[in-house]
Amino acid sequence: MDRKEAEKKIQELRAVLWENSRRYYVDNAPVISDYEYDHLMYELRDLEREWPDLVTPDSPTQRVGSDLASDYERPSVEGGTESRFTKVPHRYPMLSLSNTYSLSEVEEFASRAEKSLERSFTYCCELKFDGTGISLTYVDGVLARALTRGDGTVGDDVTVNVRRIANIPQKLSGKGWPREFEIRGEILMPFKAFEQLNAERLEDDEPLFANPRNAASGSLKLLDPEEVGRRGLWCTLYHIPSQFIDFAATHSEALDKAASWGLPVSPDRRICADIDEIEDYLTYWDTARKDLPYATDGVVIKIDSLAFQEELGYTAKFPRWAVAYKFKAEQALSEVLSIDYQVGRTGAVTPVANLFPVPLAGTTVKRATLNNEEWMRLLDIRIGDWVYVEKGGEIIPKIISVDLSRRPEGAVEPEFPKACPDCGTPLVKSEEEARWFCPNSTGCPTQIKGRLVHFLSRKAMNVIAGDATIDQLFNLGLVRTPADFYSLTKTQLLMLEGWKERSAERFLQSLDASRKVSFDHVLFALGIRYVGEQTAKEVARHFGDIDTLAAADVNELLEVPDVGDVIARSIYDFFRYGGNLSVIASLKAAGLRFSMDEGAVKQSDSLSGKTIVISGTFSVSRDEMKALVEANGGRNSSSVSGKTDYLLAGNNPGPEKIRKAADLGVKVIGEEEFFSMLPARNVPAEDAFVLKDDENESTLF
Ligand code: IVH
Repeated sequence: MDRKEAEKKIQELRAVLWENSRRYYVDNAPVISDYEYDHLMYELRDLEREWPDLVTPDSPTQRVGSDLASDYERPSVEGGTESRFTKVPHRYPMLSLSNTYSLSEVEEFASRAEKSLERSFTYCCELKFDGTGISLTYVDGVLARALTRGDGTVGDDVTVNVRRIANIPQKLSGKGWPREFEIRGEILMPFKAFEQLNAERLEDDEPLFANPRNAASGSLKLLDPEEVGRRGLWCTLYHIPSQFIDFAATHSEALDKAASWGLPVSPDRRICADIDEIEDYLTYWDTARKDLPYATDGVVIKIDSLAFQEELGYTAKFPRWAVAYKFKAEQALSEVLSIDYQVGRTGAVTPVANLFPVPLAGTTVKRATLNNEEWMRLLDIRIGDWVYVEKGGEIIPKIISVDLSRRPEGAVEPEFPKACPDCGTPLVKSEEEARWFCPNSTGCPTQIKGRLVHFLSRKAMNVIAGDATIDQLFNLGLVRTPADFYSLTKTQLLMLEGWKERSAERFLQSLDASRKVSFDHVLFALGIRYVGEQTAKEVARHFGDIDTLAAADVNELLEVPDVGDVIARSIYDFFRYGGNLSVIASLKAAGLRFSMDEGAVKQSDSLSGKTIVISGTFSVSRDEMKALVEANGGRNSSSVSGKTDYLLAGNNPGPEKIRKAADLGVKVIGEEEFFSMLPARNVPAEDAFVLKDDENESTLF
């Protein structure tokens, strides 16, 4: 390759890496695997080694991948939430690790270290946790600040969110901690919490997180700390910058101390004397990690002595005293039998490959997503191809690559449909979406049925009905819009195959009870694109009623926490479409709640005149606790002041609130004491719209 060609290739690689770094760190929606990303990076690194004068300081090989949207030209798809966190410089840069998939490179790392140190030393081997980086600062034993890695120099201040993570202590225990120090680690989303979150997102037709790492990173940057608290995030800490350590001579001793102060440090590390012991550790954890409750993507090998670390020093991007050995994700090889194009309730069309059944990580995989047309093109997939499938924590396996050497002759190139596979309407695609959509929202049967299923679903109107019922009602032409449910009669229901008096009555009763469902759930039930349960809650609370919301312009919508450009535009457009307005008018006429006040049922005056601040988590949601305060005549406030009567503290209350309450002499009460102040019938689970915990099946996937 001559210089000119090298220059061109370098430019290309930088552009691809840059774009994929944004997708990974900011959008939390990568379209290529870590393995592919790392290999593109190695290709660039090797070219730059060959042509050192072509290295520029802004090359991805010289910079830590940034999680700040402002570092990229295009804003985050999640909707401009990024700029709302304060940017704070790190006291010491937060670096990345040099990584490799090859054992021989680990051996080279070890022999380089041996050569340059010329004394005997040990390694500390640890798991490489697959989450998002965090730096915590403790001052006088109290958590003072939490910053994301950002671009390595400046991070986002996410302290309010980190305070909601259950295993991060607000106060240290034990003794001997420095007056002020930083400790770094990873915020993770355990597999269980990840599966639950994605199941909810599937039900809400919100884009799924590709893996627990993306989910952790997206959750950490939410603007609603309470929602962050609900996401079940977890933390593990693995690095104290040496500038803060005067209490230990080695990295592992420093971590032992940190653990003794109550900080979450993984016990799964091992001191290794040589490369053989390192390889034993790698082999052991490549299998054993599958039983861990959270994702790991490799092992980190560190020189344990802090003095030796200092001696080896750093490059611009990495320490020279550590290397990450990455595991390749578990994959299966199978044959593509056909490709389906599934239409969701929002009209999004997803290509899904039907595969020859193949075992992978404990289950048999028969179908795997191809995400969107762009991914299909990148893969250059054909029907009949042999493909590698990965699960990596995802609910839906994904096709990662095609084994071109096995391509059968005459393998057919799939054609992404130009028209909706269900109703035939030409598909459309906007600039910022990678997905094609069927725009026929009011005429496409799959979309209509999908919306009806969503409308009745548990977290929306909570009406007991399965997909089969909706199919029956739709096929007989009895229901086209959600409003039609409310004019159904018993006689009509008895016409349906298999329906009896009792089932018809139960269905009608359930519909009737749904008239009491609060406005935020009704808003969620309307199925506005990108408006999930949490966003609906925020929007309903912010605007109070549907008329004010319908009249809001995009700027007013942007004032709602967690609403960015994409969501604001979607809500705005929804209320500009006449068909939606007429459905809302009919639902109003049917007696559904379209204002927040309507749901506030007065229960008693027991808390009359009392101002209450709620902090921590309880056996019921905080929203329910707040509703109980109001229903019993009390007032909620968010900060403790001289006017506060009670601080209602649950598990993990904010330490500042506790301290302030103590300073001001405000009485602190717990959950039990709170309930004892209310009339006996106010049991926490009393919730008008909870009829039965009956999961509705989603029409998607
Ligand atoms: S040590 C000075 N230890 O992996 C470098 N990093 O791909 C300090 N990571 O940026 C980092 N597990 O966010 C270290 N046991 C571990 C780790 C770990 C995960 C992350 C970290 C780093 C990234 C590099």
